[in-house]
Amino acid sequence: MKPYKLIITAAFSMAIAPQVLADEGVDTYKAACTACHTPGIAGAPKTGDAAAWKDRLAKGEETLIKNAVEGFTGDTGFMPPKGGRMDLSDEAVAAAVKYMIAEVTE
Ligand code: HEC
Repeated sequence: MKPYKLIITAAFSMAIAPQVLADEGVDTYKAACTACHTPGIAGAPKTGDAAAWKDRLAKGEETLIKNAVEGFTGDTGFMPPKGGRMDLSDEAVAAAVKYMIAEVTE
């Protein structure tokens, strides 16, 4: 690769960094969370359903991330730690939670 091309590539990846984070959330969601949270099965709060998320949002983002990483048994069902995907990093799960929060707040 020619040196000027490297510089352009580096500048480009810096410019898209926040988008990469958001995309990681979507990718993780699609890989590990959508099975329960898109249809809202087994008591899982449906993604994008503001009413289902209202009380959960009140707990704060940090608690929601912690519950998604460590697992959580609430009034409606059981959220398995990391959605059962123990191979995921805490960061990847956090990114997916942020994506789910954005879907009901933005
Ligand atoms: C096997 C089904 C299943 C999968 C897969 C799953 N969830 Fe859940 N999730 C649940 C259920 C059920 C609840 C509701 C638990 C309750 O409140 O009783 C829940 C609740 C949550 C909550 C709210 C926790 C709270 O404190 O109210 C978050 C955030 C969440 N899930 C994130 C995720 C993320 C991120 C993934 C993917 C990495 C994921 N879930 C995958 C079933 C699932």
